Amino acid sequence: MPNTRKYIDDNLQRFRAELFDLLRIPSVSARSEHALDVRRAAEWLAERSREIGLETSIHETAGHPIVLAEWRNAGPDKPTVLIYGHYDVQPAEPLELWHSPPFEPTIRDGRLYARGSVDDKGQLYLHLKAIEAHLKANGTLPVNVVFLMEGEEEVGSANLMPFVQQHRERLNCDAVVISDTTMIGEGIPTIGVSLRGLAYLEVRVHGPAQDLHSGSYGGTVVNPATALARMIASFHDENWHVAIPGFYDDVDAAEDFREKIREIEFDDEKFRSETGAASLQGERGYSTPERIWIRPTLEINGLLSGYTGEGSKTVLPAHAMAKVSARLVPNQDPATIEKLIAEHVRRVAPEGVRVDVEVLHGGRPWRARIQGPLYEAAVAALSDAFGREVVFAGEGGSIPIVPEFEEVLTAPVLLMGFGLPGENAHAPDEWMSVENFEKGVHASARLLTEIANRMGR
Ligand code: BES
Ligand code: MN
Ligand code: MN
Repeated sequence: MPNTRKYIDDNLQRFRAELFDLLRIPSVSARSEHALDVRRAAEWLAERSREIGLETSIHETAGHPIVLAEWRNAGPDKPTVLIYGHYDVQPAEPLELWHSPPFEPTIRDGRLYARGSVDDKGQLYLHLKAIEAHLKANGTLPVNVVFLMEGEEEVGSANLMPFVQQHRERLNCDAVVISDTTMIGEGIPTIGVSLRGLAYLEVRVHGPAQDLHSGSYGGTVVNPATALARMIASFHDENWHVAIPGFYDDVDAAEDFREKIREIEFDDEKFRSETGAASLQGERGYSTPERIWIRPTLEINGLLSGYTGEGSKTVLPAHAMAKVSARLVPNQDPATIEKLIAEHVRRVAPEGVRVDVEVLHGGRPWRARIQGPLYEAAVAALSDAFGREVVFAGEGGSIPIVPEFEEVLTAPVLLMGFGLPGENAHAPDEWMSVENFEKGVHASARLLTEIANRMGR
């Protein structure tokens, strides 16, 4: 370990420069015009993996490629750790709100600004550098490693699911480690103990065959924008409780988790000020962390209809559209929730419009079983790297492949995230703390050693 630690400290500048190169590649998975950039990021990572001595392969899928980088020389008596991360990023728009261009990484005040800095390139790359440190400093790794890098997490991981099924033998492992979540506060090492699932739909409302003069026709046919607004208004009651029948039927009350949440100090005012909203509002009867970690929600992600340009136009639009998604908790099932939302939307649609509903993608919720050697190893590694006691916290976001990993590979999953509140993931001015990147490399290196000490067969 002392060699590894020194190697990391001696090479941090270069690690950061390499990460800059990765961040310069606009690997936006949602946009077809960036498909070659996504591929370039995969090839870049494969090259860096090969250079440090990993057996590296690129796997084509119906979408973006999957990179595998393996090292299996620790021997069969040593545990195998699967590390997962994603090299694709969210679109950077709106570009005019960035203070420096999204694909020109810059450091200001200890923050590394770039699209994908924290989600997830920085958090993925720190593991590769920890592996390098072990290999270069000691000529070996304490565990066998399978590093799985995906290019479609931000669009739902649809092609990774069958890949994991097909390659279950090759991906067979004793532990899965993922850094793609946030710490509860600066300097507070955090293990994520839950992820929410997702059900995503697009709702289209069609009225007249084309746009109409609102004076000549308004009041005689149903306006699709008004119809959609009414439908959406029926999604919640006055207590911000979701009003779709059956929505909460499978929700686990999670009383034990709720008790643990009460022990965590959660600063509502700090959280509010990060959002810039006037006040915090949500489902009545639940605290802010409960609303994010143990309760399902229903959100409008996008809304489109009629004239939205400069000035006014008296028009009765022919169409209206909404993007709608629900965050799910155990034991809600995405397919069931999609069906409930679709049925509700059709039921409440006023007569005179036609509604289509398209299901876009989904993912299952997840809760960790926070016992066993993997979690002990993580607590040791994180508290060593950060010099502070580790906190267990829920997460509001989704990583669709996680429940799949646990089920197909029958290995426990560890969420060891290095993001921070206010990091602007998916938003303009996304950043990753430089300190967390560096501590993350140390924590990852230490984690492999701690796992080897605790999980050998
Ligand atoms: N890294 C996030 C997941 C996340 C977000 C974990 C916040 C913890 C807190 C991931 O890259 C992500 O954004 N996932 C999507 C999934 C979706 C596109 C299927 C999400 O949560 O919206
Ligand atoms: Mn992510
Ligand atoms: Mn993301």
